[in-house]
Amino acid sequence: MNIAIIGTGYVGLVSGTCFAEMGNQVTCVDIDEDKVDMLRSGKLPIYEPDLEHYFARNRKEERLSFTTDYEDAVLDAEVIFLALPTPPGEDGSADLSYVLQAAGTIADLLVEQDDPGYRIIVNKSTVPVGTADRVSETMADRGLTTGEHYDVVSNPEFLREGAAVDDFMKPDRVVIGTSSEKAANKMTRLYEPFVRQGNPILVVDERSAEMIKYTANSILATRISFMNEIANLCERVGADVDKVRLGISKDHRIGRHFLYAGIGFGGSCFPKDVQALHRTGRQHGYDFQILDSVLSVNDQQRELMVHRLDEYFDGDLEGKKIAMWGLAFKPNTDDVREAPSHVIIEGLLERGAEVTAFDPEAIETTKVNFGDSISYAEDMYAPLENADALVICTEWHEFRRPDLARVHDTLGTPVVFDGRNLYDPSRMAEMGFEYFSIGRPHVAPQEDAEAIKAALSENGQA
Ligand code: UDX
Repeated sequence: MNIAIIGTGYVGLVSGTCFAEMGNQVTCVDIDEDKVDMLRSGKLPIYEPDLEHYFARNRKEERLSFTTDYEDAVLDAEVIFLALPTPPGEDGSADLSYVLQAAGTIADLLVEQDDPGYRIIVNKSTVPVGTADRVSETMADRGLTTGEHYDVVSNPEFLREGAAVDDFMKPDRVVIGTSSEKAANKMTRLYEPFVRQGNPILVVDERSAEMIKYTANSILATRISFMNEIANLCERVGADVDKVRLGISKDHRIGRHFLYAGIGFGGSCFPKDVQALHRTGRQHGYDFQILDSVLSVNDQQRELMVHRLDEYFDGDLEGKKIAMWGLAFKPNTDDVREAPSHVIIEGLLERGAEVTAFDPEAIETTKVNFGDSISYAEDMYAPLENADALVICTEWHEFRRPDLARVHDTLGTPVVFDGRNLYDPSRMAEMGFEYFSIGRPHVAPQEDAEAIKAALSENGQA
């Protein structure tokens, strides 16, 4: 099939490359000339596992090309995907101007043709309920007829950063939102090779498809905030949230995913989508109360480590040297949008601390926000030199099994604030660390505990 992708952001690039990989002819459009030059010269602007390999192969085999000119992409395309940004406006609702502008440009091009033909316009971006109708109106306003010249389909993506290629190639389900049988059949044919293992292609109406995307992300975000609140309570009652998680996840109605307590969710989707769904509720006269709490719990959780550090240093973080492991909002990405690490850095800098950070991929992206107001290290042990504490913000694999004896000996003070529950608290105590994690008991070095016990027994108080 001949496909155009408008927008070469994260979703556009992954979708375009994966459609090309299945043998389709794909042309991607972007208004950013530098980006298109970069892509044409074979370089990717994002890091995503497996993408580079497919990207190189499909460029070489001439199934994947890039242009700044809509005409090059749109006129031959049977299916046109809109993969454009929908940033939150000031009031939290998604800003549709990029999507509607692109639809207008496509329609202008088509009406100029002697025979505009028939094309499917697909909303791939996460867009509020009712957007398919608005795109359709934009096309109709330019003189095109729905059903004859075009149909608009809502086809949300469920790609996780760091696993996006895999998610695209083997989706749990494909959602196609359209009331047109013609469009549904064509879209089904396009996606059939991706669901050969038997996962479903669900054809629903446009509005339900739009709701599916927001509901999926909001329920996942709700699980995280819920578990973060459970963690906060576990700390107060002396329970361990990881044990609680294991206990509940054996119930098949609950399952085991997205129940990890931590320092809150980040990324380009969850915070934005929860906010946008809340806003949709308001616009339709419904106060979606849970979503409000999901967001406020998340804000609180992203601040938690700053308060904990502040308390630990008796309210005086001025001049304290803080080592940080992990900047990306999650592992396997260089993305730092809404990253908890950035909220923590801001809090630490406000209080006069000095931060030195290491991340395997996200140093350059962090420099955009913080420049040289923090220091960056080239390996994970370097920031520990004489540091007053280590804070862990992202669960990269290499942080899971570090040389803890070396960590202990390199840190100025062996205290670790672990926002991702990577280590066993009792083992940390045995190794001589003071160790704070999320929703689990705070432990002090075992030798301290023994020394205190010995002192107490000498005084006859034990
Ligand atoms: C998400 C959705 O998973 C994807 O389907 C959608 O299309 C886009 O948004 P992504 O933003 O890449 O994908 O990240 P995801 O892996 O879902 O994680 C989101 C955030 O939740 C991360 O900050 C992560 O650290 C946090 N998280 C996740 C937790 O704190 N606990 C968990 O148990 C799971």
